[in-house]
Amino acid sequence: MTDVLQRVRAAGMGDPGRTGRFGRYGGGYVPESLVETCRQVAEEFRQAWSDPGFRESLTRLLTVHAGRPTPLTPASRLSTELGIQLLLKREDLTHTGSHKINNALGQALLARRMGRSRLIAETGAGQHGVATATAAALLGLRATVFMGERDIERQALNVFRMQLLGAEVVPVGTGSRTLSDATSQAMRHWVGVTDQAHYCIGSVVGPHPYPWMVRTFQRVIGDEARGQCARELTSAVPDYVVACVGGGSNAAGTFAGFVDTSARLVGVEAAGGAGAAHGRDGVLHGARSRFLQDDGGQIVEAHSIAAGLDYPGVGPEHAHLRDLGRARYEAVSDDEAVAAVIRLARTEGIVAALESAHALAWVIRAAGAGELPPGATVLLTLSGRGDKDVAALKDRSALKEPA
Ligand SMILES: Cc1ncc(COP(=O)(O)O)c(C=O)c1O
Repeated sequence: MTDVLQRVRAAGMGDPGRTGRFGRYGGGYVPESLVETCRQVAEEFRQAWSDPGFRESLTRLLTVHAGRPTPLTPASRLSTELGIQLLLKREDLTHTGSHKINNALGQALLARRMGRSRLIAETGAGQHGVATATAAALLGLRATVFMGERDIERQALNVFRMQLLGAEVVPVGTGSRTLSDATSQAMRHWVGVTDQAHYCIGSVVGPHPYPWMVRTFQRVIGDEARGQCARELTSAVPDYVVACVGGGSNAAGTFAGFVDTSARLVGVEAAGGAGAAHGRDGVLHGARSRFLQDDGGQIVEAHSIAAGLDYPGVGPEHAHLRDLGRARYEAVSDDEAVAAVIRLARTEGIVAALESAHALAWVIRAAGAGELPPGATVLLTLSGRGDKDVAALKDRSALKEPA
């Protein structure tokens, strides 16, 4: 047991301590006025997580409201085509349609415990905004969601869903008008309202304690999947564990369940937002991590057909896992992701979110290139469903021919 714990700590998926460091990454680079607030959130989270009452309330909400545990679906026809054994962890089947609900419910419960009446959030694909609006409605909190104007255009369905749930959606017109700018704007707004509002960050990014807290709320994915794999696979543990990475919350939650096993961990980024694979050390949104930057150290805008992967960096724990060699990070193009959506739809009857399709596209590529040995067992987290992406796929005339 000690050996396992040591390996988990060495791999960076334990408690990052009061400084919130994962190796040289993480920390809390926030304005003076937010230092005390972040310290308070960290302390409240630490206490809540060790309180059985809090954990029971969250488990109950995840069960009766969000629909956990999510199934593990063998992708039988696609597995045969690829010559591997592919298992899908079905976060797309949660209430609201993505893994984001796990974290939103956790943080909403924490906000209520801290006596806050409002949630602030940023969103890219809109899934975290919808999850936050849902959790707020359920727990009687107000929600304000910051969203880039470009994402508002391409994710109109989710904007309407948030408004239907009673949330205020605030358009952000600065910079690339996508997720990164929405995050900056939400942080700026938070500074003035910390006594009433909790900032519910949607990924494993931002200052301490967010990367640790969000991963802790998302590790339910990996813990469930570990038990399910043990029942499904003769080897108990899959050879590969694969998940898409925007900031990296579904991947961190999944990896946390397997970091102490022999499974190879693979995070898949969008080619135009590959902060882990191609970024450099820097500080953004309150944490040191790996970000796309120009020679002058300015953040470079990210581009992806998947709004949820349109972020120029990754959470600090991913940067650390990469440095340790415990996880590797690969990049996939828009075209490969679109082809993967169609292939999964036509072999398994599942329309995946464009974000999740990046992870699948890497599996398809690696199996085709012989990088995944024949018969390899692969667990892939399907982080969300593709309803929100139907307009984007239609625009791209994606339905001409399957890849
Ligand atoms: C369905 C889905 N998957 C993945 C992501 C990327 O986020 P993360 O890397 O935090 O899991 C998003 C973000 O909006 C999403 O909506």
